[in-house]
Amino acid sequence: MLAISCAGLSSGLAQRDPIAALTPADLEQGERIYKAQCALCHGIDGGGGTGPTLQRPVLTRAPDSDALYALIRGGVPGRMPGAWLSEAETWQAAGYVRSLGRVESEDLPGDAAAGQRLYAGKGGCTSCHIVDGEGGSLGPDLTSIGDVRGARHLRQSLLDPGAALPEGQLLITAVKKDGGKIEGLRLNEDVSTIQFRDGSNRFHSLRKADLRELRREFGKSLMPSYEGSITGGELEDVVAYLASLRRKP
Ligand code: HEC
Ligand code: HEC
Repeated sequence: MLAISCAGLSSGLAQRDPIAALTPADLEQGERIYKAQCALCHGIDGGGGTGPTLQRPVLTRAPDSDALYALIRGGVPGRMPGAWLSEAETWQAAGYVRSLGRVESEDLPGDAAAGQRLYAGKGGCTSCHIVDGEGGSLGPDLTSIGDVRGARHLRQSLLDPGAALPEGQLLITAVKKDGGKIEGLRLNEDVSTIQFRDGSNRFHSLRKADLRELRREFGKSLMPSYEGSITGGELEDVVAYLASLRRKP
């Protein structure tokens, strides 16, 4: 912690936020660091990829400057590596991340209400996704998807789901000794068994010894592509709806 709590003192004595003190040259440097070390996971424009979108004014894991500093340095175990940066560079990167949040209110062209109707209606999305506790559980819960994914990722999820697979998701095809095939999303795997959920949401646990073949289908998805089955306008409506799904304050 850098700041010492100064509640009760007049606001004129409030701790100076190192991010507020950054110059435009610092932010340019922060952008260079971001593009080299962070864009791979968070997207070149901060719109998200395997990591969440940073185009949001409030970041869950980094509500204030100190938390953001600590997060960039320490990373998130198993999910995001800590960065090898000097103290000054870390603040520059942090400042650039905050600047991404300020341009957040991406002007989405779609109509969220129309998108919600399509979601529940002809899109059939509710059969595989939960929003606010309602829906099927084959796909990920979308209750606060707008907090973690930017518009670009959302569009891609709908048009080319296999290319936008959330980290850790893997589609597998198990071919049994009798030739029967089962396709599903991997839940767990160890040396001798594999557990997965198929397209009808049935759970399977198989012994690898009973299988003729186990294929890992990188880049494939259980989610149907909506390319061609919805219009460009409908796509934008659904994206606007998904982007509006945020944790309630
Ligand atoms: C290997 C991929 C990867 C790299 C590289 C990476 N991140 Fe992350 N980052 C993630 C993931 C995944 C999460 C989500 C962790 C979680 O909440 O479980 C995350 C979370 C964050 C968060 C918190 C977002 C929130 O809503 O709380 C911030 C801020 C962040 N990263 C900034 C950065 C910065 C700045 C860099 C470069 C110095 C960076 N990340 C590099 C994958 C990455
Ligand atoms: C047959 C089941 C199924 C249907 C129908 C379906 N999805 Fe999915 N969806 C999935 C699965 C499974 C995933 C997880 C990744 C994968 O396998 O592609 C997913 C992933 C997603 C993601 C990415 C989530 C993330 O964290 O990046 C979004 C967004 C999404 N779906 C939205 C929708 C919308 C909107 C519709 C309706 C227009 C829809 N899905 C219809 C099964 C489905």
